[in-house]
Amino acid sequence: MNDNLHQLRCFGCGARVNGATSSPDFRCLICGDLFEVEYPGWVERGGHDRPNAGALKWLWRERRCSSEALDHSGVWRFREMLPILDNFGNAVTLREGNTPLYHLPRASKALGIDQLFAKHQGMNPTGSFKDTGMTAALSVAKERGFQWVACASTGNTSAAMAAYAARAGLRSLVLIPDGKIAWGKLSQAMDYGAVTCQIKTDFDGCMRVLTQVVKEAHIYLLNSVNPYRLEGQKTPAFEIAEAFDWNVPDHLIVPGGNLGNSSALGKGFREMRELGLVARVPRISVIQAAGANPLVRSFVNNHGAALEPVEAHTRATAIRIGNPASWRKAARVIQDTGGWCLDVTEAEIAIAKAELGSEGLGCEPASAVTLAGLKKLRAQGHVGPGETVVLVLTGHTLKDADYTIDFHRGTLLKDEEKAGHEAEIESLRRNAVVVEATPEAVLATIKGKVE
Ligand code: F0G
Repeated sequence: MNDNLHQLRCFGCGARVNGATSSPDFRCLICGDLFEVEYPGWVERGGHDRPNAGALKWLWRERRCSSEALDHSGVWRFREMLPILDNFGNAVTLREGNTPLYHLPRASKALGIDQLFAKHQGMNPTGSFKDTGMTAALSVAKERGFQWVACASTGNTSAAMAAYAARAGLRSLVLIPDGKIAWGKLSQAMDYGAVTCQIKTDFDGCMRVLTQVVKEAHIYLLNSVNPYRLEGQKTPAFEIAEAFDWNVPDHLIVPGGNLGNSSALGKGFREMRELGLVARVPRISVIQAAGANPLVRSFVNNHGAALEPVEAHTRATAIRIGNPASWRKAARVIQDTGGWCLDVTEAEIAIAKAELGSEGLGCEPASAVTLAGLKKLRAQGHVGPGETVVLVLTGHTLKDADYTIDFHRGTLLKDEEKAGHEAEIESLRRNAVVVEATPEAVLATIKGKVE
């Protein structure tokens, strides 16, 4: 482990520990807060180990043409920004990252914003942004000689962990809330060989149980409380900056669940600015589902200074989280970048998801909160027409096909949830129809729909 290049710094009290000696639940023994990976060489000893910005940009571009397996990873391509392994031969990769940045012409036009893009993290190997964090943290688990890894999950973390553990030849333990995750995700954990426990509680309850488990057994915890996860999850920030030729967009919009992703992306942009790779950072706004909005409430009540857990309810199961672990880090990112924290209703999420679908970009319901949130930010005047905005789509549409089918069949939302949105919903619904096996019957279905 490259413990002379990095250390862990407590986000709460600033205490520093050697990465190899942190407690199994990654909580500070002094104040109980979470750690962040810090690279002292970038600032100490006159910035002796500080990477050169121009050289890095050149090197990272060159690696795109490399035949080295590690260079094919959109995470390890930026390995100078995450010197967390002693031996890069321990890196466990499935060619994660290098995800597409799509222009959204229709949403752009509808919202009157010139430049609107979606960074589709659902295009990762297991279908979610979790792969970028998992390749980093699971590689650390491997280098440290762990045999078992574990996570509590609303589904995507478990799918990613199980896949990377299988690649590394490690055993994996998954704790998921019974009956509250999408089937696509559960099937992945099973397929990749995880020991999967459906626990009779919610995500927050699973997290509580697992925190005890890792204190009692030699198992490496791979939730986003693990600071190495966030090192991998910061790399899409580098990809976004690179895609804009190192001029960052004005605004980045991220879904908020356990709040690791917004924290990680904020760290990525902050470090790029510190190293002179970019001149400024984008505003970062976090959007939650209205039924699972503890950070939104925290901003309303005390500007992000304290958080009261809530009992979470939303069909966007990926973000059904009431007691987010990384809320302090995410609150700091929003405050430091001048972003906002908003929530959106179940109908707004469903509509935004269908609108993204109609642009040819499927995504998970949890990802669609970003477009729903942008609409609100635009209506409130927080986003101007000349701004460049990037939505972070976190999960693949096939993760939760039931949600999509229910929406198009008209069975997803209750009448009271649809209130005020009926016409919009009807215009987006595309139900499948049963048709006789004749060309006339097929042609009759498109009659009146084509000129
Ligand atoms: N979008 C998707 C598709 C997710 O799976 C998650 C989190 C989020 C957004 C929220 O990200 O937690 O970093 O704020 N899913 C976790 C899981 C909790 O277990 O898969 P966050």
